[in-house]
Amino acid sequence: MSSKKRNWKPQTALVHAGALRSGFGETSEAIYLTQGYVYETAQAAEARFKGEEPGFIYSRYANPTVDMFEKRMCALEGAEDARATASGMAAVTAALLCSVKAGDHIVAARALFGSCRWVVETLAPRYGIEATLVDGTNIANWEKAVRPNTKLFFLESPTNPTLEVVDIAAVASLANSIGARLVVDNVFATPLQQKPLQLGAHIVVYSATKHIDGQGRCLGGVILSDKKWIDENLHDYFRHTGPSLSPFNAWTLLKGLETLPLRVRQQTESAGKIADFLAERPEIARVIYPGRADHPQAAIVKKQMSGGSTLICLDVKGGKQAAFALQNALDIVLISNNLGDAKSLITHPATTTHKNLSDEARAELGIGPGTLRLSVGLEDTDDLLEDIAQALKAR
Ligand SMILES: Cc1ncc(COP(=O)(O)O)c(C=O)c1O
Repeated sequence: MSSKKRNWKPQTALVHAGALRSGFGETSEAIYLTQGYVYETAQAAEARFKGEEPGFIYSRYANPTVDMFEKRMCALEGAEDARATASGMAAVTAALLCSVKAGDHIVAARALFGSCRWVVETLAPRYGIEATLVDGTNIANWEKAVRPNTKLFFLESPTNPTLEVVDIAAVASLANSIGARLVVDNVFATPLQQKPLQLGAHIVVYSATKHIDGQGRCLGGVILSDKKWIDENLHDYFRHTGPSLSPFNAWTLLKGLETLPLRVRQQTESAGKIADFLAERPEIARVIYPGRADHPQAAIVKKQMSGGSTLICLDVKGGKQAAFALQNALDIVLISNNLGDAKSLITHPATTTHKNLSDEARAELGIGPGTLRLSVGLEDTDDLLEDIAQALKAR
């Protein structure tokens, strides 16, 4: 079944797009757990290597199950092409390194997931690529950071963990005006609630580990962009450095995509109710939720996102001790640094995901000792509200 000829809505594309059926006519996508492929003749092998005949060569280059996942992601994102990776960080690293060379300059929003920040701040300079980190919420900061050799902009929105929102169209327009490219890490928004390519971004990356799998099973990532950029910049990097996704994980992620809209809709609905509940509680100093009118960038949220979020950032009065006590008193909500899962998960960023940042860097990002990140799962909303209410009382 080919996805190209049909003008499917996302929910249909996520069930059918990219499906490649074998001669057995299986309903569920097959897992092609193979490293290599055989050729009828030596001439056929030569023709395939020359690119004169289509077909798979080696699973580090491409694999039918991985191909189905990539095509389904393209259909969802509205992208021309995609490459799937073994993790979200493999996707971010490939997207960044394949966009620049020694002597180039990157401007990135400072509110980045810790490992993304390490790639930009620590890894890239080792290879002669300089980076400037800015407060991404004000476009003037991006403009001021531009240098004659700026070739790349990088941001995530909403950010991890404070759910700060960056104006993607404004940064894309600045990038275009100087001939640079914009990479957007769209993990927190999910492909359903924000479309960076439509807003002008050139490359979108995901940790498929999060909502796309959504059931805590396997790591994965994906890079989406135009075909020309992927052919010219990613193709050889993938062949020769091998960040490839395993066929089994691609299959798991395909199954995840089938239920992504149902899960994200339910999780967002619950998160909105929980955010409103928390905002009224005297134990809570601050709630940041992209679906609320009091979000610091509410106007941009309205302009570029179609839903709220499955995540909530909250500040508990009483600092670390109170935040830890709240976490420990929860029954249904589990303490974990992961997110986007069917199970509700809560994280204390200052001591886990963002522990490597200095106190000043954390303060700049609004991560305090009482800050918690709540990833809302698929449990019944009333059960979650009850659990949070009892934990607030117990702490
Ligand atoms: C915003 C963001 N980008 C990238 C990643 C990296 O993804 P992975 O864990 O799949 O490598 C994460 C993971 O937590 C993340 O939150």
